[in-house]
Amino acid sequence: TAERPAEGLKVVITAGPTREPLDPVRYLSNHSSGKMGYALAAAAVALGAEVHLISGPVALATPYGVTRHDVESANDMLAAAERLADDCDLFIGCAAVADYRAEAPAEHKLKKRDDEDAMTLRLVKNPDIIARIAARDDRPFVIGFAAETRDLERYGRDKLTRKQLDMVVANDVSQDGLGFGADDNAAVLLWKDGDAIDRDAQPPQPKSRLAEAVLKRALSRLNTTHHA
Ligand code: PMT
Repeated sequence: TAERPAEGLKVVITAGPTREPLDPVRYLSNHSSGKMGYALAAAAVALGAEVHLISGPVALATPYGVTRHDVESANDMLAAAERLADDCDLFIGCAAVADYRAEAPAEHKLKKRDDEDAMTLRLVKNPDIIARIAARDDRPFVIGFAAETRDLERYGRDKLTRKQLDMVVANDVSQDGLGFGADDNAAVLLWKDGDAIDRDAQPPQPKSRLAEAVLKRALSRLNTTHHA
C-alpha cells in the first residue's frame, strides 16, 4: 500500500562495529555507535517490512518491531548474515566491519614484557560480508555503505562496482557532527542505472531522515528492476 510500501519484504541490516579478540580481555574495534543501522531498521519497520538487525556491540535499544541478532566478531556477523539471507529481499550492510582480526588470539591474557619495548601483532583479513551476500545465486537487492575521509564519490563508485552492489551510500566520516557516533549524517547515494551510475546527494540531516530517503530510493529500484 502507499503507506506501507515495504509490506511483505524481508530486510536484513548489519549495524555497529565488530570486535576482534586479541586475548580474553582485549579486542580491536572502531567507533561505530550503531545509530545509522538502527535508524535504517526503525525506518524499514515503519515502511512495513519484516526486519532483522544483525548488531555488533552497541549501547542502543532495539527499535520497536525489529528482530535483533547480537554478534561480536566479523566471522559471527558473516554466519548470521548467511543464515538470514535466505528469502531476503533487501540486505543493507551498515556495520563497520573490522577488515582484519588477530591471526591467533591468545588463550590467556597477554602479559606486559619488561624486556621488550615493542610487540608485533599479526593480523589476517576478515571475510567481506556484503560481497559474500552479493555473490549468492539468490541474491537480494544489496546496499553497501562507504565510509570515506576523502574522494567520497570515487571510492563509492569503486565499491559499487567491485563488490557488485546495487546501491552505495557514501558518507564522509571526516566531518565533525556527521558519520561515526553522530546523530546526523550526509551521503551521496549511488546506484546502477543500466550501464550508468546515477546519484542523489543528501545534505546533513538526522540519521532517521537519511534512513528513510535511502529506503525509499531502494524500494523504487526494487520494484522496477529486481526479482519480479
Ligand atoms: O554506527 P554509526 O556511529 O551511526 O556510524 C555510521 C557509519 C559511519 C559506521 C555508517 O554510516 C557506515 O559508513 N558504515 C560502513 C562503514 C565501513 O566499514 O565502510 P567500509 O567502506 O569499510 O565498507 C564498505 C561496505 O562493506 C560496508 O557496507 C561494510 O558494511 C561492508 N563490509 C566491509 C568489510 C567487511 N569485511 N565486510 C563488509 O560487509
